[in-house]
Amino acid sequence: MNEIFYEVFSNLPRQGPGDIMLTIKALNIIKQEINIEQILDVGCGSGFQAIAIALNSSAEITAVDNYQPFLDEINKQLVEMGINDRLKTVCQNMNSLDLPLGKYDVIWSEGSIYITGFENGLNNWRKFLKPKGFMVISDANWFKSNPPDELKDFWKNEYPGMMTVEENKKLIKKCGYEIIDSFSLSANGWMNNYYYPLEKNVYKARKKYINNSEALNIINGVQIEIDLFKKYADYYGYMFYVIQSKK
Ligand SMILES: C[S@@+](CC[C@H](N)C(=O)[O-])C[C@H]1O[C@@H](n2cnc3c(N)ncnc32)[C@H](O)[C@@H]1O
Repeated sequence: MNEIFYEVFSNLPRQGPGDIMLTIKALNIIKQEINIEQILDVGCGSGFQAIAIALNSSAEITAVDNYQPFLDEINKQLVEMGINDRLKTVCQNMNSLDLPLGKYDVIWSEGSIYITGFENGLNNWRKFLKPKGFMVISDANWFKSNPPDELKDFWKNEYPGMMTVEENKKLIKKCGYEIIDSFSLSANGWMNNYYYPLEKNVYKARKKYINNSEALNIINGVQIEIDLFKKYADYYGYMFYVIQSKK
């Protein structure tokens, strides 16, 4: 049934909420600090931000995901754009990355660190950074501390580790990073760039799998997430964190 899930998430501009202007903003903040030579994008999906970073820097980029068809989508674009010498894709599990230690100036992970866990990612990925290297992480956070039950229950299941902005910031510092900047993604970043294209896929998949109750369960689950956001966008959202390792 995973196949249905991936089908709904394929052929999308991106697989998570985001905004190219925030990706570029984070990149520019780091460019002011260092000459970026190597970037590792963890959980890159079909490469929206990896390609944006390639177009807006001269860095070499290693884009990692564990779903090869997403990486195939990237590779196709890279060849068409002629940047396949600077952006390489690698199919690996973010929980057990087998990559050169101490190589990267920046680890980039938009909407993906929750998969390994925020704290885990900050601690386990540091070994791939150069000393005092940077991370750009985007993660879902509670913006209000009293979410309605239906929202709380949904996210307790989907992302049990979801924290408030203050809790995330505290954890970043506890893990030995300095917060260089942080900013929130607007509701448009969710709807225009992610949920609306996804909602179109959900609509098509519902028709295709009308007689398949197991598939419909998965598809309806995605629609519930979208509908909750339309109803409660003030209560939660995505935060970008630009952080630097103290070591
Ligand atoms: C929410 S999407 C974000 C994708 C992309 N960063 C974006 O913003 O469009 C999470 C991505 O993590 C990938 N993923 C899930 N589990 C993974 C794992 N264990 N190791 C590596 N990638 C994983 C998924 O295939 C998916 O592409």
